[in-house]
Amino acid sequence: MSAQSTYQPIHRIAMGGMAEVHLAYQRGLGGLEKLVVVKRILPHLEGDVTFVTMFLEEARLAAQLSHPNVVNVVDVRREDDGLYMVMEYLAGIDLRQLLALAKGDERSVPIPVTLRALADAADGLHYAHCARDSHGQPLGLVHRDVTPSNIMLTFEGVTKVLDFGIAKAAGPAGVTQGGTVRGQFTYCSPEQIEQRPLDARSDVFSLGVVLYELLTGASPFVAESPAGVMQAVMHRQIFPPGAMNSDVPVELDDLVMRALARDPAARISNAGELRDRLYSILGGYGTTMSPARMGRWIRERFSDEWRAAQKLEQRVTLQARAGEATARPSSHLSVSASISTPGDLLDTTQVTTHPSVSSAFESGSDSISPLGDVAAGRGSNLTLYMAAAVAATVSILAVLALAYFLGRTAG
Ligand SMILES: Nc1ncnc2c1ncn2[C@@H]1O[C@H](COP(=O)(O)OP(=O)(O)OP(=O)(O)O)[C@@H](O)[C@H]1O
Ligand SMILES: [Mg+2]
Repeated sequence: MSAQSTYQPIHRIAMGGMAEVHLAYQRGLGGLEKLVVVKRILPHLEGDVTFVTMFLEEARLAAQLSHPNVVNVVDVRREDDGLYMVMEYLAGIDLRQLLALAKGDERSVPIPVTLRALADAADGLHYAHCARDSHGQPLGLVHRDVTPSNIMLTFEGVTKVLDFGIAKAAGPAGVTQGGTVRGQFTYCSPEQIEQRPLDARSDVFSLGVVLYELLTGASPFVAESPAGVMQAVMHRQIFPPGAMNSDVPVELDDLVMRALARDPAARISNAGELRDRLYSILGGYGTTMSPARMGRWIRERFSDEWRAAQKLEQRVTLQARAGEATARPSSHLSVSASISTPGDLLDTTQVTTHPSVSSAFESGSDSISPLGDVAAGRGSNLTLYMAAAVAATVSILAVLALAYFLGRTAG
């Protein structure tokens, strides 16, 4: 991204099969500053015309979505160094981290936490499945990649679905247009594996797998190879979660099994129904698990992550401000290049450097010192003043000489 870019990626958060995710700093008029997330498509996919066309189309649709349980896409851009999508930054954990807890001990994630998180995710999915365009026509969105890494739980206790629609651009059943395996087949529905037409019920199945894993600490389709996983999704007998975790009530067992029905016609018919059933089971625990309560639980259970996130936000903001203070407006230096923050804040920093920055440093052709700029500016102004003074003196002398000459002639 260029120095003039509104978004300056500063810290890489994650590297997926399709893109790099960076925490970035957004600048705007009137001192606006904000942390956002920039998802930059990997270079090898940018040459794939079908992928890029579909990515832009899906991103355009995703940007129309606005719901508390769906991450907000704020911008999609293409600049010299690539194609990227800008999203709201979510301070929190993804469901992989929650799952890691459940894998250690299936009772470590309280069932009401799982129920509320998945009811929120189902609500976000259902909203997107039902979304219509400005002419009232259904958008027909299906997520296609409902996995633990694409669901986040914020430290404020809200669950959000990420990456809406991107999977479609990446191709069916987790395979890119180029043929590389991208997604995790463990969360694919049978119809996705068979590459049949998909509708919202495919996402219900995938969410059912996530639910199963959180309740039992294990995937129902775990296998040694992708082919083994696909085989398991299509044919392996699924035991109700209660068989592994006796805390799971019977009605939750039934719900999970209905979400995992291989025949879409026998499955829970839509994500809205799944949400309602999850809420009704949650009611049996005598709580709604409000966001305030969810947030308290997450901040307590993931206190290290919470502290680390706060420190990271602080560091990124300081870096960006420091970079701005030292960047010259017309320079080709990226803002994130010139960093000077207190030492302890820099220890784990990953600085994203614009390619042109390193060459500038190597050739020694550019000074990043603001004093250097000021001094250079003052030097050139002084030359101008002196030239103007000399010109004025010469003009006055010429006028005086002319007057003297005319006076002598007249006399
Ligand atoms: N808006 C966001 N705010 C905060 N963290 C985010 C945001 N978007 C993504 N992340 C983090 O980045 C991780 C995911 O990165 P990414 O989507 O590139 O990989 P993936 O989900 O594993 O793969 P893919 O999406 O390509 O299937 C998320 O699990 C989350 O931890
Ligand atoms: Mg993702």
